[in-house]
Amino acid sequence: MNFYHPLMSNNFNKDDMLKVSNFLKKKKIILTQSKNVIKFEEEWSKWLGVKYSVFVNSGSSANYLTMLVLKILHGNNWEIIVPTLTWVSDIVSVINNGFKPVFVDIDLKNLSMSENEILKKISNKTLAVFITHAQGFNGLTNNILNILKKKRIILIEDVCESHGAKFNNKKLGSFGLISNFSYYYAHHMSTIEGGMICTNNQKIYEIVKTLRSHGMARELGNRKLETAYQKKYKYLSPKFIFLYPGFNMRNNEISAILGRNQLKRLDINNNMRRKNFEIFLKYLNPNIYYKDFDIRGSCNYAFPVILKNKSFYLRNKLENLMKLSKIEYRRGNAGGGNQLRQPYLKNYTKTINIKKFKNVEHIHFYGYYIGNYPNLKINKIKKICSILNKLK
Ligand SMILES: Cc1ncc(COP(=O)(O)O)c(C=O)c1O
Repeated sequence: MNFYHPLMSNNFNKDDMLKVSNFLKKKKIILTQSKNVIKFEEEWSKWLGVKYSVFVNSGSSANYLTMLVLKILHGNNWEIIVPTLTWVSDIVSVINNGFKPVFVDIDLKNLSMSENEILKKISNKTLAVFITHAQGFNGLTNNILNILKKKRIILIEDVCESHGAKFNNKKLGSFGLISNFSYYYAHHMSTIEGGMICTNNQKIYEIVKTLRSHGMARELGNRKLETAYQKKYKYLSPKFIFLYPGFNMRNNEISAILGRNQLKRLDINNNMRRKNFEIFLKYLNPNIYYKDFDIRGSCNYAFPVILKNKSFYLRNKLENLMKLSKIEYRRGNAGGGNQLRQPYLKNYTKTINIKKFKNVEHIHFYGYYIGNYPNLKINKIKKICSILNKLK
């Protein structure tokens, strides 16, 4: 059989398809957001350990609505501290809502924001720290949590790449005021496209539900409030009261059915990913590759292949080796590396010395990730490591 190591494999199985086809065979069905969406939200909240979840059409939408709800509640004359290694939508959601992004370097041990850097960048204009738990690693520390609490700075968690990872034995995504998840195909579980916004705060929950559906009052899910708005805006059609500047970011029943079925096996799959990760760590050559990760509580759908040497020669050889050996990879780890280098940010980076962000710069040029999916077999991991270890 031909050797091929893709970034992701088997994210949908026969049972997922069966559940969808059984649903489609029913006589009367609603395909747009309905009962299965509500059920998926409830089941996800229970799994995560939060009160409320709102299913949206992508992780990027989750990021966007999270920043929009902060703007609605606090105005946008604030700074939001963001990582330099993250997905584009984490930064775009900040700037498109009018906040000022303040960038921090990462820590190589977990690819997340460096604790020292966060503390250095906190000012009296800081509204929130928008952390990304990159590629399955936990980015929180007790110190970060204590200082944010003491200074009354909001914590927002992007857990799109780290479903099921934990800090202090508690799931990531249950620490922040709001947390975001993505169910894009590349992640721990998939609803084709999809995202979740989670919180324990009822007011935020209600506003986010309206924002997901054009900002409509009837989406609040709160009859008393809805009636109060109908009285207040008596010259408006009662079912068409648009409270906030929302969009349509809803998801649908088929995606919710996939999510509900995949959630049942998420913990089992995640345990397999954890085991696989340790096998990669065991067999990869520490003289060539960085391996000093803090894997406590981590749960990674990928394996980071990070060159120790800052060598373009080795980097090119590694890329050739992976191409020839059919090992699919992405350079720059989460989101393609240093966001500060991206053209969309050119108006924000004029006065920033990009080279001072040393760790993200290392990842940008010498960091890669490859797939770590549940049905990956030990022998295949050993083979991948032996291929990677050939690098000279
Ligand atoms: C950290 C992070 N945040 C947000 C997103 C956006 O999620 P989606 O692709 O579902 O829009 C991603 C996507 O891959 C991501 O990695």
